[in-house]
Amino acid sequence: MKILKFSSYEEMSAAAADIIAKQINVKGDSVLGLATGSTPVGMYKKLVEMNKSGLIDFSNIKTVNLDEYYPISPSNRQSYRYFMNDNLFDHVNIDKANTYVPNGEAEDPDAECENYEKIVKSLGTVDIQVLGIGQNGHIGFNEPEENLYLYTHKTALTENTIAANSRFFTEDEVIPTSALTMGMGTIFSAKKILLLINGKAKREVFKQLLSDRITTACPATLLKLHPNVIVLCDSEACGE
Ligand code: GLP
Repeated sequence: MKILKFSSYEEMSAAAADIIAKQINVKGDSVLGLATGSTPVGMYKKLVEMNKSGLIDFSNIKTVNLDEYYPISPSNRQSYRYFMNDNLFDHVNIDKANTYVPNGEAEDPDAECENYEKIVKSLGTVDIQVLGIGQNGHIGFNEPEENLYLYTHKTALTENTIAANSRFFTEDEVIPTSALTMGMGTIFSAKKILLLINGKAKREVFKQLLSDRITTACPATLLKLHPNVIVLCDSEACGE
């Protein structure tokens, strides 16, 4: 893993956007693996600015997202489909037909996961997969467990994740307790992985990433086995 430290969230976000922009400019029909959560919001903002000023072109870009709550309607403002439209897709020249997020209102979630895995494979290799990280070390929604899954699957969210994500929900909104997520194998098949970590709340999990251990109790530690991972962190997450 290559670790790049930045003094602020803004600098980290700008550096992440630069890496994505270079990828888009080198290969105009790249496949981007995208993530939600608060972490990549700054990066998406920069990418929108770059697109508006003509520095990058999304017209031939395809995207696959890591995960989606289940059950949830894509029109629900808490859904990850809504998040992606709102933070990126609605503001750049991407063809929405080329953007994929698991369907949170599929009647048969297992069939949807199987289908999503096929979609990811049909697009060819993901050129860059963007990841955030849960405080408990989850990536996508691969929660700490004795056994992790290789492929896209339905999963129950841990208490820790539900509590961490509850900050986005108002009192009258129901917090989903399940999700559809790419598996560890789906994520690992990307050529390059960009892991973004910011804020004090991620300091403990960042320490686990630096240790020489890998464990399914902290799924992100398995990233140490991937040949091309860049970790971008701010000083609050990585300390001195
Ligand atoms: C969610 C997402 C993850 C994300 C994580 C961290 O649970 N499924 O993909 O990395 O939250 O979120 P945040 O960036 O808001 O800390």
